[in-house]
Amino acid sequence: MRIESAEFVVSAVKRGSFPKDALPEVALIGRSNVGKSSLINTLLKAKGLAKTSSTPGKTRTINFYRVNGEFYFVDLPGFGYAEVPKRMLKSWEGMVDGYIEGREGLRGAIVILDARRTFGETEENLYDWLNGFGFPVVTVLTKTDKLKRGEVAEAARAYRKNPRAPHPVLFSAVTGEGRTELLKRIGEVIRPDVAG
Ligand code: GTP
Ligand code: MG
Repeated sequence: MRIESAEFVVSAVKRGSFPKDALPEVALIGRSNVGKSSLINTLLKAKGLAKTSSTPGKTRTINFYRVNGEFYFVDLPGFGYAEVPKRMLKSWEGMVDGYIEGREGLRGAIVILDARRTFGETEENLYDWLNGFGFPVVTVLTKTDKLKRGEVAEAARAYRKNPRAPHPVLFSAVTGEGRTELLKRIGEVIRPDVAG
């Protein structure tokens, strides 16, 4: 997929404010500070389009970016900052549920994980919850620039044996690694009939 145009459309917290033009949507999900907003900027080659910060909890609302006039990237608030691990997923789920539940145009999710972190119980719960919705989930291991190549290969190997997230896209918002592959995977999610 080529990026021809990208524009910020709306920042919303309630259903009533979400876009109503019924275009397909792909949602970005991950821990706070993992690099969701940076990934959007790198994919769209639009530095500063999505606000990023080294302080966790930058994105607190649901942000819609229209791409090629064809679909939306939906940047969701990150989970897991300043909250107790068990409860955090619950309260965050509540907010994100308000978006995901019954969202007609939602075609799939991109889960963004830090390539340096191990896949723990929180991630297992997240995938089990997301898989219940029945749409495709694409896994991205980001910040690969912070690892040595051997460590990146090791992380990829570990994921190959992970039934929940077997084919992660290796990505870096700094080097642009994985950009082309991720755009291809997103194209397959929004146009499953054309891909293949
Ligand atoms: P919230 O909005 O708080 O949920 O965070 P986010 O997931 O949107 O993260 P954001 O894109 O704001 O990035 C968080 C920090 O990680 C920033 O300091 C980014 O510069 C940095 N970062 C993001 N992606 C990468 C990457 O691929 N490599 C490196 N080295 N740093 C990155
Ligand atoms: Mg953000």
